[in-house]
Amino acid sequence: MSERTLVLVKPDGVERGLVGEVIGRIERKGLKLVALELRQVDEDLAKQHYAEHDGKPFFGSLLEFITSGQVLAAVVEGPRAISAFRQLAGGTDPVEKAAPGSIRGDFGLEVQYNLVHGSDSPESAEREIKLWFPSL
Ligand code: CMP
Repeated sequence: MSERTLVLVKPDGVERGLVGEVIGRIERKGLKLVALELRQVDEDLAKQHYAEHDGKPFFGSLLEFITSGQVLAAVVEGPRAISAFRQLAGGTDPVEKAAPGSIRGDFGLEVQYNLVHGSDSPESAEREIKLWFPSL
């Protein structure tokens, strides 16, 4: 059964020219792009997207970072797309958790600057896709 997930290439990934690398890995895995848009995130969208982290010590810097430059937002579809992309991304901490061969494991060094985001459950995917692509 096919499912959808929201993928972001965060400002660090866009700035470093890793958009093609990330999209290439998604496509080579066999996942399909359903929507793709480069955009500047405003404070309101950032707060809604990261609502579950409100109150955490890094919330302020997370908002500042995600609104600091352009973000590539994508809806990606395929069988078990949510876990498939999370495997491509690697764990949140690019050094301690993401294995070499994953996007974060290959290109990241710091938890905040971890290059990509992928929805972590079917509920988050539904919420995040509605938030970023209300017309889908
Ligand atoms: P993401 O998958 O987008 O979801 C929440 C983000 O918060 C996470 O990736 C990291 O970029 C960031 N994050 C999580 N933990 C920390 C932390 N301890 N310090 C700074 N940023 C963090």
